[in-house]
Amino acid sequence: MSQENILEVENLVMHFGGIKALNDVTFNIKRGSVSALIGPNGAGKTTVFNCLTGFYKATGGSILLNAGNKQTSVVKVLGEKFKGSDFINPAAFAERVKYKMFGGSHLVNRAGLARTFQNIRLFKEMSVIENLLVAQHMSVQRSMISGILNTASFKNSEEAALRKAFYWLEVVHLTEFANRLAGELSYGQQRRLEIARSMCTNPEIICLDEPAAGLNPSETEALASMIRVLRDEHNTTVLLIEHDMGMVMNISDYIVVLDHGEVIAKGGPDDIKSNPKVIAAYLGAEEGEEVSL
Ligand SMILES: Nc1ncnc2c1ncn2[C@@H]1O[C@H](COP(=O)(O)OP(=O)(O)OP(=O)(O)O)[C@@H](O)[C@H]1O
Ligand SMILES: [Mg+2]
Repeated sequence: MSQENILEVENLVMHFGGIKALNDVTFNIKRGSVSALIGPNGAGKTTVFNCLTGFYKATGGSILLNAGNKQTSVVKVLGEKFKGSDFINPAAFAERVKYKMFGGSHLVNRAGLARTFQNIRLFKEMSVIENLLVAQHMSVQRSMISGILNTASFKNSEEAALRKAFYWLEVVHLTEFANRLAGELSYGQQRRLEIARSMCTNPEIICLDEPAAGLNPSETEALASMIRVLRDEHNTTVLLIEHDMGMVMNISDYIVVLDHGEVIAKGGPDDIKSNPKVIAAYLGAEEGEEVSL
């Protein structure tokens, strides 16, 4: 296992019926980097995220997540069926039942990976702070009994959750909106709240699906500095899908380019900008034509 890479994706394949959405996708993400997954509409970017985060179980290939001082095989975690020993060990049995009920995304989240969505998914009828508390309740294992009895340890964990929520609200500049309904926030503020919500689950890597979509230039600028803060001050690896090429080239250490479900280029921003295959695929230009990324 390579400590240098937080994520190792090898020969990832995803089929939907007859559609081959991903075909042998292979890339590594270095710990502590800001990396971007780019490509034209329909290239398969969100599908990669859905496989990484446990929303889909990949048809083939492997995804290794090196976080929390262990290695998690995402595809394997999702693929596990009930084993004989699960019926003897109550904890293993409960895990399996939970997986069958809720899917695998919470297991991947607990293993150290969090995500945001291309279409914002917040609890719009809940307050900003409640959204951050719910996220933590889903990722922390606590017993219902301690909640009913309101034990000291339960109260402490509630206070810790509140502290963490306010901490991240401050980082994303939303403290003054703590008691507003999430649905009342502007689009840009909701995108920042989604990032705060993901960070509340203590991820080592955060995957952002088009975080700059719908933002104006100054909001995009603020988002870019926030992403740098996550990497530089919170040791969080960031993997983002983004169509705003200015932002991608500006903040990325490493870029993976997908087209028609296949990786067509990998490298630093300068390599990618001048790669003819990328220019042709991404901008729909003929190879050799002069276009600037
Ligand atoms: N659940 C699904 N069932 C069937 N086909 C799907 C499903 N999810 C994605 N696809 C198909 O897989 C391909 C890749 O889609 P995906 O959403 O990953 O693209 P994308 O690169 O994120 O595009 P965009 O930039 O528009 O968000 C598309 O052809 C899409 O129709
Ligand atoms: Mg997408």
